[in-house]
Amino acid sequence: MIQTVATSPFHDQNPGTSGLRKKTRVFETPHYAENFIQSIFDCAGDIVGKLLVVGGDGRYLNSEIIQKVLKMAAANGFGRVTAGQNGWLSTPAASNLIRKYSAHGGIILSASHNPAGQAGDFGIKYNVANGGPAPEKVTGAIYQASRTLTRYKIADVADIPLDIAGERRIGDMVVEIVNPVADYAALMETLFDFAAIRRMVSHGFRMRFDAMNAITGPYAHEIFEHRLGMETGTVVNGTPLPDFGGGHPDPNPTYAAGLYTLMMSDAAPDFGAASDGDGDRNMVIGRDMFISPSDSLALLAANAHLAPGCRDGIAGIARSMPTSAAADRVAARNGLKMYETPTGWKFFGNLLDSGLVTLCGEESFGTGSGHVREKDGLWAVLLWLNILAASGKTAAGLVRNHWRDYGRNYYSRHDYEGVDAGAATAMMDDLRARLAALPGTQFGPLTISAADDFAYHDPVDQSVSEHQGIRILFEGGARIIFRLSGTGTEGATVRIYMEHYEADLDLHNMDTQEALSPLIAIADEISALKLRLNRLRPTVIV
Ligand code: G1P
Ligand code: ZN
Repeated sequence: MIQTVATSPFHDQNPGTSGLRKKTRVFETPHYAENFIQSIFDCAGDIVGKLLVVGGDGRYLNSEIIQKVLKMAAANGFGRVTAGQNGWLSTPAASNLIRKYSAHGGIILSASHNPAGQAGDFGIKYNVANGGPAPEKVTGAIYQASRTLTRYKIADVADIPLDIAGERRIGDMVVEIVNPVADYAALMETLFDFAAIRRMVSHGFRMRFDAMNAITGPYAHEIFEHRLGMETGTVVNGTPLPDFGGGHPDPNPTYAAGLYTLMMSDAAPDFGAASDGDGDRNMVIGRDMFISPSDSLALLAANAHLAPGCRDGIAGIARSMPTSAAADRVAARNGLKMYETPTGWKFFGNLLDSGLVTLCGEESFGTGSGHVREKDGLWAVLLWLNILAASGKTAAGLVRNHWRDYGRNYYSRHDYEGVDAGAATAMMDDLRARLAALPGTQFGPLTISAADDFAYHDPVDQSVSEHQGIRILFEGGARIIFRLSGTGTEGATVRIYMEHYEADLDLHNMDTQEALSPLIAIADEISALKLRLNRLRPTVIV
């Protein structure tokens, strides 16, 4: 029954910021997915008899690749696989299953917010026993293994029906198909005051949640409409579709424009939220108040004690380097530890495992805590709902109070997507070469105080990650950061992050782009990015 199939290596199976992401058609190449799955199993340590979790965001190819994972897991000696019914598991729900049932690891099939379908993207990510993305030393080993792979092992059996819950077998291995929502929803009930949120709902509170035709639909229907009693129709685009309805399920004002427009209109409900393809990102919006992810992290950290899961306070906060320093101010005032990590959730794993931090966040609409080892979109929405219910304030009111108490970090990211990779790399290289000469340079009232290529020294395992983004710091706390994306599948994406701190209450109502316009101009002047990338304006502004 077990076949050993001869194969030859692919040379591009190098996992990026979050797993291996490629065009769907690349994953359709014969042996491509099998090779990568075998490389994972070859680098996963002693897997014989162990439990593996598998599921994905429901995009095109999800079920086909799950069948391959099941058959290869059996052939490679796993004792048991837990898979989500229909092949569905949100990324945080998969992380929870790995932790709850002490799995050896998990395979998550997703390209997150990248468009799905035959012309879209697909991805495979390996998570380790703590429930989090494999650290760089493991992903590096997987890549090396993939470069010399000559065979993979697969059980020659019929497909397992994924739509029926219950147990099956492939040889000696048990496959358990589970309800993808149940364990996750049960976890959320332990973390938040569902009764208080239900009371707020019964007093007329209304929300709109946009699942963007992706994986959070079933979770959101169950949690918001069934368990919290919100009216039917609260969740829109709630059925996962293989092509995500042709959309781009990235919860930001550009790609969740319908929700954004509604929240800025007179017809806005009290609160709006959206999640991404695999359920780990979140966007939250109050009435007429877009809440930047960096501000959301800071505000959640300042108020987390209002939720039962954080009743005893939080240990510390971690944010990715490009995320604004708003959370740093909360940490400083409340005597909390603060960590600045490279972009990507995997860098939070060690800090969470050793109890150094409780809350983590990224400017890219990612927020999470130690309850799992992934960022968690619905968790963030529930924490907001819990804080709204416990404080009795509106979302906009909470944000304004926060700015009054801590000052406002104006913040924006400009993305230049799909640019020429050579031009983007050359631009970064040139900037890097000029870093030492930049301190002291003046641009009008702004003076550069420091400039470097961010390197992270992990305080737990002492590992060092270099070249994590070029930082240009100004006197007074303003920053410009240049980074190349590690998740794109076409050309290169240049990300430019800008931040400016404003303590003066009278200056808290400016338009963000206007408040940042001096920095936007400096970023272009320093890098000549528009000329070098041959673009007039960014593809996405968030
Ligand atoms: C992007 C985000 C990063 C996030 C990752 C996965 O990575 O910037 O914060 O962790 O997606 O969701 P990038 O494309 O910038 O490498
Ligand atoms: Zn995602």
